Amino acid sequence: MSSAKPIILTGDRTTGPLHLGHYVGSLRSRVELQHKAQQYLLLADTQAMTDNVGQHQKVTNNVIEVALDYLAAGIDPELSTIFIQSQVPELAELTQYLLNLVTVSRLERNPTIKEEIRLRGFERDIPAGFLTYPVSQAADITAFKATLVPVGDDQLPMIEQTNELVRKFNSTVDRQVLVECEAVLSSVTRLPGVDGKAKMSKSLNNSISLGASADDIKKAVNRMYTDPNHLRVEDPGQVEGNVVFAFLDAFEPDRNALEELKAQYRHGGLADSVLKRRLNEHLQALLEPIRARRQHFAGDRGEVMNVLRRGTEKARQVAGQTVSEVKSALGLNYFNY
Ligand code: TRP
Repeated sequence: MSSAKPIILTGDRTTGPLHLGHYVGSLRSRVELQHKAQQYLLLADTQAMTDNVGQHQKVTNNVIEVALDYLAAGIDPELSTIFIQSQVPELAELTQYLLNLVTVSRLERNPTIKEEIRLRGFERDIPAGFLTYPVSQAADITAFKATLVPVGDDQLPMIEQTNELVRKFNSTVDRQVLVECEAVLSSVTRLPGVDGKAKMSKSLNNSISLGASADDIKKAVNRMYTDPNHLRVEDPGQVEGNVVFAFLDAFEPDRNALEELKAQYRHGGLADSVLKRRLNEHLQALLEPIRARRQHFAGDRGEVMNVLRRGTEKARQVAGQTVSEVKSALGLNYFNY
């Protein structure tokens, strides 16, 4: 037997380019995971359509942007398979079969969906495609027989619901066709916005994009919220809630030095400008090669589309195999005699 690598499936809705928060939260670990696992990366345009009705152009324009971010961050198409969800019709087909195995009330109880409905103000007018997107997500995962799914903790209910569907399907057909998966919490580090708001987001205008110029980075660092009571260098400062320290927690390689800086800041005598200069150097060093790769691929869109075409073809083969097993198990193989 060959030592089979675990199969990973993960992805992002294509509603905008990715930023440093995504890098820390998931991209950084995916770049490492691609060496240890067979990794599929899904550009979730179909899913993005479920809550962007009328904004389909934004969704489709961002497919290439997210792909550029993947390549820029160091996702290697020789190691990872990047593909476009809408171009794998087998996923929609599998979704259709799985939809019969879940009740509307179970979907309405999904905590992630409940929270998103609240955030979007859908109230009673919930698009059916939105309510059922956890089933489509279960299809994404099970079509590849993925065993590991890196997600943020807000997505844990999705994994639970996926595994319920796997058990329900297998017991219905009395065969082990689909495979249960396990969530890998991608990161404990969550970057705040540069303005101190809990979440970094492009729409809040408090993010640093992966393509940010050296000057953008410097300006963002200078803008970062620190401790408003740290007026003079010699005043004691607060580390908690201080954006510069939250970033240093994520990017400072010298952990001992970081502890010393925190102690010195709390005591008094350490200027914000010294910390900001240090953080700026780390961010410049990190983002310079990412920006260069992004520019390289942005100038060769044909090559990027080739990567996506090849990845999508491979994804269709794998998903197609699972869907034919699913259909056979359901007796939907009329012509295969
Ligand atoms: N729900 C994810 C997001 O909001 C995208 C996604 C779609 C996904 N299908 C998936 C993630 C399957 C992990 C596994 O961006």
